[in-house]
Amino acid sequence: MRVISTAPIAGQKPGTSGLRKKTRTFMEQRYLENFIQSTLDVVREDCGGSLAGKRLVVGGDGRYFNREAIQTILQIAAGNGVGRVWIAQGGILSTPAMSCVIRARGAVGGIVLSASHNPGGIDADFGVKYNASNGGPAPEEITDRIYRRTTEITEYRVVEGSVNIDQLGSSKLGDTEVVVFDPLDDYAALMQQIFDFPKLRKFLAGGFRMCFDAMNGVTGPFAKHIFLDLLGAPAGSVIRATPLEDFGGEHPDPNLTYAAELVAKLASDDAPDFGAACDGDGDRNLILGRKCFVSPGDSLAVIAELAPAAIPAYHPGLAGVARSMPTSMAADRVAASLGIPCFETPTGWKFFGSLLDAGKITICGEESFGTGSNHVREKDGLWAVLAWLSILAHTGKSVDQVLRDHWTKFGRSYYQRYDYEGVSAEGANAMFADLRGKLGSLAGTPLAGSKISHADDFSYTDPVNGATAANQGTRIFLENGSRVILRLSGTGTEGATLRMYFESYSKDDIAQDAEAKIRPLAAAVCALLDLEARLGRKAPDVIT
Ligand code: G1P
Ligand code: ZN
Repeated sequence: MRVISTAPIAGQKPGTSGLRKKTRTFMEQRYLENFIQSTLDVVREDCGGSLAGKRLVVGGDGRYFNREAIQTILQIAAGNGVGRVWIAQGGILSTPAMSCVIRARGAVGGIVLSASHNPGGIDADFGVKYNASNGGPAPEEITDRIYRRTTEITEYRVVEGSVNIDQLGSSKLGDTEVVVFDPLDDYAALMQQIFDFPKLRKFLAGGFRMCFDAMNGVTGPFAKHIFLDLLGAPAGSVIRATPLEDFGGEHPDPNLTYAAELVAKLASDDAPDFGAACDGDGDRNLILGRKCFVSPGDSLAVIAELAPAAIPAYHPGLAGVARSMPTSMAADRVAASLGIPCFETPTGWKFFGSLLDAGKITICGEESFGTGSNHVREKDGLWAVLAWLSILAHTGKSVDQVLRDHWTKFGRSYYQRYDYEGVSAEGANAMFADLRGKLGSLAGTPLAGSKISHADDFSYTDPVNGATAANQGTRIFLENGSRVILRLSGTGTEGATLRMYFESYSKDDIAQDAEAKIRPLAAAVCALLDLEARLGRKAPDVIT
């Protein structure tokens, strides 16, 4: 074991989902080393002073620098006396599979190497996230301590050497046992406990056509194993299934902008019945029907409504549901009709963890194409795809019909999110400061044919452990029930990204185009904020 001197590096504060930076930043000397040593220092503290006998899982989304980072982490884990490190074969482990493996194998935690849906490559993004023993992203109490540690660090410990991460089996680095394992089995076994695979197999054999787009990310091997090997879908049903270090030069983000090829396929005359995609690390999902897009808020609501009937694991019913604050309120209406609670949390999956651990919720989701349940502690893209397949098999309806029936019963939340990427942080902060300054006086202001009823900054107190989070998004409520939310992204790596979320509810008028419905509200809010002058942007970069 060697002790190597180091010094704190500024800016290692985890954001919405771990530490995200440019790949080149992570490749700088001691950058990754400092962060991993700081993480292990905190984990050791929580394990009573020693990591001996403790198990740690390591894997990532296969992006550029994944393999090198794994070797560095192994050396530091060995230097810190971790009992056993499990490494996914080839370093490829989806984020939900990481959560599954930590839980199934009783690990103390896991280190996820991913910048999720951000592009990969030496000039793109990289990320590191620590997941705790419940399988979920470390709560802020832990990430705050990791950050503090990065500001005090003086040394890190390594055992030099390397491990062949492509070869299944066990070896030693110092006193640490290193086990390279195949994660497909753990994950597929969990999916088979939740869903009725024989029923889905029969459904797919009956002429139903699907197309799953892995976006050159980590879900390719998992999707091939589940949809092709286990469910018998024909070979062409899974596309872009080989994980690539740069995701083929694309944004591995499953939405209408970045999954354009799949969207076009589903809009064609020869469209399959069902289309779906996952992001680079496999936690996000996009659900499409023929010429039909399921917005994430609707997807959460439909799954909450129909899972108890359509999916064996949820036959006993749901304890409750949760959504992040900016996510549409469609799930709230389902929860009310089921007589179960609906919790509203800040943005970021880590806030669902305590509710899931305490058994207060069964299903949860975010507007950012994230849906999941109590089976793991991450959002789970392939789980969402299997949930939709189960709903289609159970109801015998098309995606479009399922949606229409849902809206007819509950009304419809028209919903869109505008992203302004890479804007000046100064300009955005000044705009927020101004808006915050006048929140109290906005009530009564006319806006898009209605009036502002009230406006505030969202704060949250965790109902399980009392942890608090302030300034989690500025909310503007209108008298006609519409909502607008503004917040800055906590996952970007360049400048600032402004997100604006628009929601407009109709009980009976359910067949409009979402874009047309939201446009006047969006235009009025942009004018209210003087957005064009302040940020120099006429239009958002991405609308989802
Ligand atoms: C974004 C999403 C958020 C999600 C996170 C990680 O965070 O908005 O819902 O949990 O990515 O996938 P943001 O960049 O908005 O902070
Ligand atoms: Zn992701």
